[in-house]
Amino acid sequence: MTVPSLIQPLKLRDVEFPNRIVLSPMQMYAAQADGKMTDWHMVHYGKYAYAKFGTIFTEILCVEKRGRSTYADAGIWNDNHIKKLQKIASFIRSQGSVPAAQIGHCGPKSARQRPYDGLQPLKNRNNDIEPAWEIISCSGVAAAPGYDTPTPLTNANVKLLIKKFGNAARRCHLAGFDVLDVHAAHGYLIHSFLSPLSNFRADQYGGTQFNRNRFAIEIAQEIRKYWPENKPLFFRLSCIDRFPGGLKLEDTIELAKDLKKAGVDLIDCSSGGIKGPNSLFSLASQKPPTPGFQVPFAEQIKQKANIATMAVGMISEPQHANRVIESDQADLVALGREALMNPNWPLHAMRELTEDKNFDSWPPNSGWWLEVRQRMLNSSDPNDWKVGLAAKNTPGAN
Ligand SMILES: Cc1cc2nc3c(=O)[nH]c(=O)nc-3n(C[C@H](O)[C@H](O)[C@H](O)COP(=O)(O)O)c2cc1C
Repeated sequence: MTVPSLIQPLKLRDVEFPNRIVLSPMQMYAAQADGKMTDWHMVHYGKYAYAKFGTIFTEILCVEKRGRSTYADAGIWNDNHIKKLQKIASFIRSQGSVPAAQIGHCGPKSARQRPYDGLQPLKNRNNDIEPAWEIISCSGVAAAPGYDTPTPLTNANVKLLIKKFGNAARRCHLAGFDVLDVHAAHGYLIHSFLSPLSNFRADQYGGTQFNRNRFAIEIAQEIRKYWPENKPLFFRLSCIDRFPGGLKLEDTIELAKDLKKAGVDLIDCSSGGIKGPNSLFSLASQKPPTPGFQVPFAEQIKQKANIATMAVGMISEPQHANRVIESDQADLVALGREALMNPNWPLHAMRELTEDKNFDSWPPNSGWWLEVRQRMLNSSDPNDWKVGLAAKNTPGAN
């Protein structure tokens, strides 16, 4: 039987991805106020490693304290963050998955409440326990109505921030991550430079598309000074803005070509986030997102910029995910909320796609028991329930 595309390995630079299934970066709002992860995160990521997600991304690790979206965001702005991340990365690797980190800066969307507390800007919330802080962006324009007005970065501070991305990459390498993804989407800091709807600068970082892309390109170049040559670098982009005058797919294809020249290996294809929440909330399109709604971006960028891509967004069916890879629309498929719903998703997908009736693709600590239980469920004859290898391997025992 041929191995289904979704569970075939992939190699980018020197990193071998055991399959194409990726845990998408997801903020869990569970970090300490100093940005450190805890044992909670070890358990959280650990369960996905047990379930054979081929690649496991951390949530966005903020490159500076000001760049957190909430007080519970995780950080990489300090060498003290490395130790816990090292343990997490090491456990992920021990289970055969690729440990991967996402770094970024929330820019004009920093300093807010946690989603389930209302997502409102901390400013004017009159909260002594979690007071607001000054937020920064490309220009002095609020991310959307109701958001706090950011301070535009001076030219000198733009250069300082680029350095912070390089330093964050160095720390991620020290922590033992093998893949790095730069969050340049969803209306966060880098996206605020890329989009003509949020970039009103008059210096070399504003105006033409070339200038608007400069911040992202210089970040990629800076990261490459610290991120080893043999490790792949991903960039998450909002491929379209979904607003008139905003970024179109053609703009993103051009950016992807330039990012590739700067040392980027894969474009992680998301969308939206300028002038409001990202496309998951679909306020801009007024239509609920449909399964695989961002896959066409991954396909077009892969073909036209000749770079690997990752598809994400409302992908939940194994057959669908497999088709995305099989039909060469993307090289990797990332799962966000479906992974929250079903952390064992890859194990179920492997059974479904390979018709693995005996749970052979599962770790034996659970697979062995489930196989025996299944025989009991399927047969009333106690001879069929015999445990042990012989029984399991008996043809037709199932
Ligand atoms: C709880 C939650 C937190 C998220 N945090 C991040 C994040 O830290 N970085 C990021 O790039 N995207 C983040 N996203 C977006 C997801 O990575 C993913 O792109 C999105 O949920 C669409 O995929 P899905 O339909 O499979 O959930 C988050 C999404 C959710 C649901």
